Amino acid sequence: MDLKITCIPGDGIGPEIVGEARKILDVVARKYGHVIRYTDILMGGASIDAYGVPLTEEAVAAAKSADAVLMGSIGGDASTSPWYKLSPDLRPEAGLLAIRKALNLFANLRPAVLYDELVGACPLKEEISAAGFDMMIMRELTGGLYFGKRQTTESDGVKTAVDTLVYNENEIRRIAVKGFEIARKRRGKVTSVDKANVLDSSRLWRQVVEEVARDYPEVTLEHMLVDNCAMQLVKDPAQFDVILTENMFGDILSDEASMVTGSIGMLASASLNDTKFGLYEPSHGSAPDIAGKDIANPIATVLSAAMMLRYSFDLDVEADAVEKAVKQVLKDGYRTSDIMSEGCTLVGCRQMGDLLAERI
Ligand code: IPM
Ligand code: MG
Repeated sequence: MDLKITCIPGDGIGPEIVGEARKILDVVARKYGHVIRYTDILMGGASIDAYGVPLTEEAVAAAKSADAVLMGSIGGDASTSPWYKLSPDLRPEAGLLAIRKALNLFANLRPAVLYDELVGACPLKEEISAAGFDMMIMRELTGGLYFGKRQTTESDGVKTAVDTLVYNENEIRRIAVKGFEIARKRRGKVTSVDKANVLDSSRLWRQVVEEVARDYPEVTLEHMLVDNCAMQLVKDPAQFDVILTENMFGDILSDEASMVTGSIGMLASASLNDTKFGLYEPSHGSAPDIAGKDIANPIATVLSAAMMLRYSFDLDVEADAVEKAVKQVLKDGYRTSDIMSEGCTLVGCRQMGDLLAERI
C-alpha cells in the first residue's frame, strides 16, 4: 500500500518522539511491503518562529493532501516562552484548534488503558486497580466552548468575559454515531457524559444520543453527569467502556483518565473526520523541560501511529504488530524514566525506539 503521511513534529519533545514513531512505521513498511511518503509541516511555536503564525494555509493544504497526519506535540512553557506574549489567536495552541477545525476532526478518540506491566504506576488503591481498566474516551472536538463566540468587554471599569457553549443536533449526532460504532467493536457499552441537570446544550446532547442509541440495540447506553463521572473514574474505572462527551468535558476527563493509568507517556489518541482521514498524536504535551535530552517516552506516539495504521489504513495486522512490540518491550523490562520502576532497565527515547523496532 502507498501511504502518504504528513508529519507535524512540533515543539518541545515533539521532534524526538515523532522521529521514533517514524522509525517504527518504516520498519512496519519494510516488513509488510508498504511504501510511505512523508511530508513535514510546521505548527505551533515552530511555525510562529518561522512564519509569525501558528499555522499557515500551506501547512493546512499539505495536511489535507495526505492520507493521515502524525503529530508530536506543540506549545512551550507559558511562563517563560515568548510565544505566550502574543495575542491568544497567535499562540501555539491556536494552531492546533485551527487544524482540528480546518480538517473537520470532530471525533477525538483517547484510549486509557491500565497496562499489566505498569500496574504499579497506577495511583489508585490496589483493590481498585486490581480490576484493571480499558476505556475509550470519545471527545467531540470541533464544537462547544472551544469554538463558540467569545468576547471580553469593559463597561464602567468592570470587565466581563463571555464564552459560549453551542451544539446543534447534527454535531451531536455524528459524534454519537462514532461512539456507538466504536462501542459495538469493543464491550458494547456507551456512557454518555453531560451536565443535563443544568445546561440546555447537555439536554439536547442527551436527547440526540438517545435517538442514535435506537439504531444500536446491541449497545447499552447509560447517562452520567460529568461531576459524577469525575468521581467514578477514580472510584471504579473498570465500569467504563466508551465515554462519549462534549469538547470541554472530554478535555478534562481524558486528562483525569490518563492520570489514573499512571503512565501518560503511553497514551495515544486519534482525531477523525467522517472519512478515513485522521490526525494522530500522543495524549501528552510537549514537555519543554525535557526537550532535546533524549529521555522522553516515545511509546504514546508509536501507539498513535498504530492507531493510524488501524483507523486510516485498515492495516489491523500491522497495528497489532506495533502494539505487541510495545507490550513485549515492557515485558522485557525496558522503561523510559517516566515509567521507570525498580529492577527495570532505564533507556532513553532513541533506544526505546530501537528496542521497539527490533520487536516488530
Ligand atoms: C488537548 C489539549 C488542547 C485542548 C490544548 C493544548 C488546546 O489540552 O488536546 O487536550 O484543550 O484540546
Ligand atoms: Mg487537554
